[in-house]
Amino acid sequence: MMWKEKYKIGVPLVDQQHEELFKRVSEFIQTVQKKGIWTEKLDKVKETMAFMQEYVVVHFHDEEVYQEEVEYPERESHKQDHTQFKEAVGNYVNRFKEEGYSEELVQEFSGKLVAWLIMHVAAKDQKIGEYVDAQERGEL
Ligand SMILES: [Fe+2]
Repeated sequence: MMWKEKYKIGVPLVDQQHEELFKRVSEFIQTVQKKGIWTEKLDKVKETMAFMQEYVVVHFHDEEVYQEEVEYPERESHKQDHTQFKEAVGNYVNRFKEEGYSEELVQEFSGKLVAWLIMHVAAKDQKIGEYVDAQERGEL
């Protein structure tokens, strides 16, 4: 899962945070998928969970503040997307605590993480950039 230049929305802070998210998630996927003893991978899994919970909150907040500033029309539904994602991560955190970090559950989580990140960053976040471009061109 590679970061691509085309994912940039033209807002340096947001782009930088997205790139970091992609980097961390792809490291996580590599760890989960590589051969080896499962228990030895758990540190990385736990580190990623902690990172996702902290970093994502900061990132979503920054992105939401930016959307307010530019009065992005779809900011409310975008915010709901962020909320749902935080809840989904929170649910997995709880399941890991209750059921343990089984390989199966971690695989499931990693699949969801990648799907969500690509869908969101490569589609929904792009629309913010398109809106700002149109605004700058005086079309709105
Ligand atoms: Fe977003």
